[in-house]
Amino acid sequence: MPDEGANILEVDGLGKAFGSLVAVDDVSFTIGRREILGIAGPNGAGKTTLFNLISRIPFGADRGTVRFAGQRIERLAPHRIFRLGLARTFQKETAFAKLTVAQNIRVGAAYGGGMRGAALSKAIDEALDVMDLSAVRGELAATLPVYETKRLMIASAAVIGPQLLMLDEPASGLNSVELADLKLLILRLRDRGAAILLIEHILPLLFGISERVMVMDFGRKLTEGPPSAIARDPRVIEAYLGGPKELDTDAA
Ligand SMILES: Nc1ncnc2c1ncn2[C@@H]1O[C@H](COP(=O)(O)OP(=O)(O)OP(=O)(O)O)[C@@H](O)[C@H]1O
Ligand SMILES: [Mg+2]
Repeated sequence: MPDEGANILEVDGLGKAFGSLVAVDDVSFTIGRREILGIAGPNGAGKTTLFNLISRIPFGADRGTVRFAGQRIERLAPHRIFRLGLARTFQKETAFAKLTVAQNIRVGAAYGGGMRGAALSKAIDEALDVMDLSAVRGELAATLPVYETKRLMIASAAVIGPQLLMLDEPASGLNSVELADLKLLILRLRDRGAAILLIEHILPLLFGISERVMVMDFGRKLTEGPPSAIARDPRVIEAYLGGPKELDTDAA
């Protein structure tokens, strides 16, 4: 039965160790429907591992629970999690180089299952349209510039109409024009019904778009709150800069 609760995702006590390294250490948080929750933290803080544990791509957690739309998912197969409407992208932009843009999105839709015929075509057209890729739908992915490859990866996740979309550093390597454009596209995805979990090192984007920001450090949740408070939090500044300086979070 669909769950109409306020939170689309509830994570409780999630943990993962690699040998003696605790990559994610007892992390709990929630995200509301159509909320944009930012995740910040220094390199190696455990942000990507957190996405891995939630999506179970490529591995799940050692401990803790994950509730998505009211249903426990921490033991489900990755494709089942995707089919429920929880989609993710990857830190390094990836696409099937020898497939066209539209074919790449079709692969995402196939992994999502369920869609056939006219409904499948419509979903692919919509994903192309939402990510402004319609004009290059027939191009081989190998020929795309970086920003279009990033948009293609997001479109391949968004094709299922996810209720939660987890984006892992979508803005890395983009110029300021592309950054401003990406911000609009993320808001567009949210307006179409997705909650957004956004890992990002580019703080002006993260703080400019997130309703709340969670900060991780050494696998743990350091703090969370509204962007304005987080940007001034001495523990956050210490984790990022190692001292009492100022974070550059001004909107681009
Ligand atoms: N498959 C793995 N095997 C062993 N160690 C891993 C594995 N994946 C991640 N780690 C380690 O876990 C820690 C957290 O890594 P993770 O990639 O989650 O950090 P991150 O916050 O995403 O960093 P970045 O901002 O650089 O992307 C790091 O010390 C990393 O080396
Ligand atoms: Mg990472």
